[in-house]
Amino acid sequence: MGQILFNSTLDSKIPAVVVVFKKDDGLMWAQAQEGFPKDVLTRAKEDGLKGSTGSTLLIRPDQGKPAARLLLVGAGSRKEADLHVLRRLAAKAAHWALEAKPKALAFLVPNELGSYVEEAQAIVEGLILGGYRFQKHQSKAEPVALPPKILLVGPAVARKSIEEGIRRGEIFAQAANFSRDLINEPPSLKTPETLGRIAKSLAGKGIRATVFNKAQLKRLKMNALLGVNRGSAHPPVLVHLHYKPVGRARKRIAIVGKGITFDSGGLSLKTADGMMTMKYDMAGSSIVFGVFQALAKLRPDVEVHGIAPITENMPGHDAYKPGDVVRAYNGKSIEVLNTDAEGRVVLSDALSYAAKLPVDEIIDAATLTGAATIALGRSYAALMSNNQSLVDRLQSAAEKSGEKMWRLPLEPAYRDHIRSKVADLKNIGNAGEAGTIIGGLFLEEFVDGKPWAHLDIASCGWSGDGAVWGAPGAVGVMVRTFLHHILN
Ligand code: BES
Ligand code: ZN
Ligand code: ZN
Repeated sequence: MGQILFNSTLDSKIPAVVVVFKKDDGLMWAQAQEGFPKDVLTRAKEDGLKGSTGSTLLIRPDQGKPAARLLLVGAGSRKEADLHVLRRLAAKAAHWALEAKPKALAFLVPNELGSYVEEAQAIVEGLILGGYRFQKHQSKAEPVALPPKILLVGPAVARKSIEEGIRRGEIFAQAANFSRDLINEPPSLKTPETLGRIAKSLAGKGIRATVFNKAQLKRLKMNALLGVNRGSAHPPVLVHLHYKPVGRARKRIAIVGKGITFDSGGLSLKTADGMMTMKYDMAGSSIVFGVFQALAKLRPDVEVHGIAPITENMPGHDAYKPGDVVRAYNGKSIEVLNTDAEGRVVLSDALSYAAKLPVDEIIDAATLTGAATIALGRSYAALMSNNQSLVDRLQSAAEKSGEKMWRLPLEPAYRDHIRSKVADLKNIGNAGEAGTIIGGLFLEEFVDGKPWAHLDIASCGWSGDGAVWGAPGAVGVMVRTFLHHILN
């Protein structure tokens, strides 16, 4: 990665990104650029820039002032623009830079849509998230990347604030991109053992990493995770990361993430199409990894546990079978009627384990149900919770990150749907009925009444066309939201 720095002036040789708003009769500069020549806007309008959100135009102002090249990015009307719009515009600017490959890029902090800290953070996040490409397995000689030098330009009095925003933006977005790298990695190259090693590499700086191997999982009686693992040639792990602040912790949080490194469905085999993207079934666990990478740098006064049950879900000669019964870590027995509903099975152990830790709340993230996409489409995570205050605080964190979640009810009447005739619970409900909620109700059985929230990210975790940040594949969703939630 290159450098992102504060600068108090534009350099005429460095292309500068500037925000423009749409007005009834044309365009207007953002506050920080108010002294800029009006004729640039007139020309931009003539060249067809309307200023609607995400529209861009590269223009070469006369005499090269204020810069030889200006990339005008439309932010829509001033009333409707906000920090999320700014983040997306920065991503657009990153896409331009990946193509045009300037040696450096300047971005004028608009001083219009939030504080300097917030604006700088949003811009830097947008640039880094928009500048992400997964190229590690492509043999191209020269990978595309952001310019080695990026300047955030603002007044000298705002230096401290803009530098703080840059620092936070880098930490947040790099954590999300780390999560994306793990998700995009081919499934056979990220076996549970490999991810366990990555977890170990996150240790240090207040973070302890424990990776339970198969023998230890047997001793702990994590028979649900072991059950799902039985069809796989690779042994499972359960990762437990623990960040403890130096002083007294203000709050204690456990985050839990589903880590199915590949979901074939097991004996209840998916279709060929259905498993095409199933390397992203460990997106929940990759959120845990991303968050801990950032915690090492942010070092908040909050204690955080990160737990990830990790295994493949494969058919194999010893695979768990429809009709099998497994007993989870908290003692509840589960009748497995569909081996493809494996996420809730591995999470039953992980959540029971989290519920025994001295924490104030538990939040899990999981690519749990295809039904989440049916219900909400790709823009929302499905949120379910037994605690209103936790819901409110998560929603306010999501408001800051620009990620969206929509609450679904944990309808008590549907609990009957997962009652088994031979065990305490069965792992599926009624076909075609509230699949996402059923997943949530199942998980609720393992949190021992603790304040808990479940995010089903099967919907928003993957973007086949790259519509979210420009790179097809992993979105890196919820890493930044979780970080805001932890820091709040
Ligand atoms: N990993 C899948 C859910 C999924 C589907 C995520 C599509 C992303 C995209 C999960 O393990 C699964 O297969 N769930 C089943 C549950 C069903 C059998 C009750 C599903 O959604 O069909
Ligand atoms: Zn599945
Ligand atoms: Zn799955």
